[in-house]
Amino acid sequence: VLVAHCSDLHLLSLQGARPLDFLGKRLTGALNLLLNRGGEFPTDVAFALMRDIGAQGAEHVLVSGDLTNLALPSELAEARRVLEELRMPPSAVTVIPGNHDAYTEEVVRRNDFSRVMLPFLRGELQPEPTLFPFVRLRGEVAVVALTSAVPSAPLMATGRIGAGQLAALERLLGSPECRERFRLVVLHHPPHERQVHWHNRLLDAAALRSVLARAGAELVVHGHQHRFQRVELEGPSGPIPSIGVASGTWLSPGDPERRAQYNLYRIEDHRLVEVRRRRYSASERAFAEVGPS
Ligand SMILES: [Fe+2]
Ligand SMILES: [Fe+2]
Repeated sequence: VLVAHCSDLHLLSLQGARPLDFLGKRLTGALNLLLNRGGEFPTDVAFALMRDIGAQGAEHVLVSGDLTNLALPSELAEARRVLEELRMPPSAVTVIPGNHDAYTEEVVRRNDFSRVMLPFLRGELQPEPTLFPFVRLRGEVAVVALTSAVPSAPLMATGRIGAGQLAALERLLGSPECRERFRLVVLHHPPHERQVHWHNRLLDAAALRSVLARAGAELVVHGHQHRFQRVELEGPSGPIPSIGVASGTWLSPGDPERRAQYNLYRIEDHRLVEVRRRRYSASERAFAEVGPS
């Protein structure tokens, strides 16, 4: 099975936004964008990203959060349009929210993200009314999707999975449907503290690692850090690889290594046999192979 993994598109669209939308955290966020980051995550790169993923013949696509910047309705609608460019059915595309998609309390209370992304959030195993965690059984792979997206104070970007979701995760990882498959866990925040700043961290990362150490998984993938990262987590029968993907659309980081890119995972006979990356070239206006990672 070939799985494509992209993240952190940070689509910006202020279309139709009202002044009232910019109270509280969004005001800080919008000012920050206008001053520093506007235009650095261009929408045309997001479309090129989807076209390139579609051309790689991936059987499943993971989009691990921060599709939007301020979780505005216009941004969520734009994210849906971008995903359509994959030309793959929602059953082959798993989307989870990041902290930017849960930007305000109101967005979370109204379930703005879930309502727009529902076709991408439907699993064969989905025990909780809150949708997360859910499992999609795709051949020998069980995609186990978590949300760590919670509203945070201005300038904070922390995440939390929560005790209820962690308990459900442990049951799901131990279920027969999952145990006979390659368990691929996807969340937005990294499950570890490597290169993670305190204002950015997953608050219950240690609790998540305990669940993984007990119940096991074959691979954990995440976004949020805007950099490629490979770390090993403790598992019940040997280490579990944890792989972070860089932003799919960021064009102007200081470090060219972090420029717009995505990951490809090849899973064969219950093993992760290959990790590849494809990165955007502004001069070619296209994605190309980076080499083995
Ligand atoms: Fe992000
Ligand atoms: Fe994030």
